[in-house]
Amino acid sequence: MGIETSCDETGVAIYDTERGILADQLYSQVEMHAEFGGVVPELASRDHIRKLLPLVDLALKEASCTPEDLDAVAYTFGPGLVGALLVGSTLASTLAWTWGIPAIPVHHMEGHMLAPMLEDNAPDFPFVALLVSGGHTQLVDVRGVGQYKLLGESLDDAAGEAFDKTAKLLKLGYPGGPSVARAAEQGQADKFRFPRPMTDRPGLDFSFSGLKTHTLTLANTQRQENGEIDTQTTADIAAGFQEAVVDTLLIKCRRALEQTGYKQLVLAGGVAANIRLREKLAVEADKKGWALHYPRPEFCTDNGAMIAYVGTLRAQSLVQAGGSGNGSRKGSYEIEVVPRFPIDQLPAVETL
Ligand code: KG4
Ligand code: ZN
Repeated sequence: MGIETSCDETGVAIYDTERGILADQLYSQVEMHAEFGGVVPELASRDHIRKLLPLVDLALKEASCTPEDLDAVAYTFGPGLVGALLVGSTLASTLAWTWGIPAIPVHHMEGHMLAPMLEDNAPDFPFVALLVSGGHTQLVDVRGVGQYKLLGESLDDAAGEAFDKTAKLLKLGYPGGPSVARAAEQGQADKFRFPRPMTDRPGLDFSFSGLKTHTLTLANTQRQENGEIDTQTTADIAAGFQEAVVDTLLIKCRRALEQTGYKQLVLAGGVAANIRLREKLAVEADKKGWALHYPRPEFCTDNGAMIAYVGTLRAQSLVQAGGSGNGSRKGSYEIEVVPRFPIDQLPAVETL
């Protein structure tokens, strides 16, 4: 069983090594936070408390199984909102202890990164992963489970965060990524000029805060000149912004693949649901002969399935390594969450 509570989605899923995903329950808090224009951490924690146990029951029902059928309970230990993480880790560790099975802490971004493995056409190691979520923008050299080398990352805002902030300043509503993407469909991407930050110098790091400021200045200028921004201008700004983010990500992916010599690119995290990003990367992949992998849209954003999957890989390695069966990174049911944890410091899983 995998439990995800790092931000504003409560997810519980059950994964079977032979039959795949047997249950996938998700409750999104989006409506509750929409009123405030973003995630309110304290409300998120309280809502996870309300929803988590009922979702565990629903997942067991959906999978037609009982706790005795489970081999481990995996949960997101970080990165994420500390209160929200504590709810998942406390419940997961308690259930695991009660059921006499290991509690397996899982890194949220490793969950995102390996989610494409749940699809029919799964990638093989090694590959380059572009992780684009609300909190992270990273390029990772992935040689195996837990064998990660960070190639580059955002020095300021994450790509998803830039979408969310842009949506707010264009009054497009929360969550920002899907609403900017929707507006952009009606817009003309080259109506206004947008920079492609940090693409004119070598390296694989990103910076999106300047792009956000550029959008703010553009919106303010439009407001000064024309009063409130009309729907078409909003769509044009959204399209221009989205195109700039997509181009910037694409340029860095191309560099990362050239640098590593790999032929596979994995796209993961909430922004991986972006249709324009998928389209442009698909064209580039076709041109260069790379294989492009991404999860189905519901496995791009937060979900329990990715945690159940990575939990299974890590639980299997514990069994093979003759682990004591208590499963935690520290070898106990200790409830420990980490708001920040670099993905390249995770232990490698040697044998599968
Ligand atoms: O992975 P995720 O669900 O949560 C985190 O781990 O952060 O990602 C959420 C982020 C949000 O910033 C959201 O605006 C963005 O993913 N997002 C999108 C789209 N769907 C979600 N960004 C662009 N286009 C989308 N279609
Ligand atoms: Zn996430």
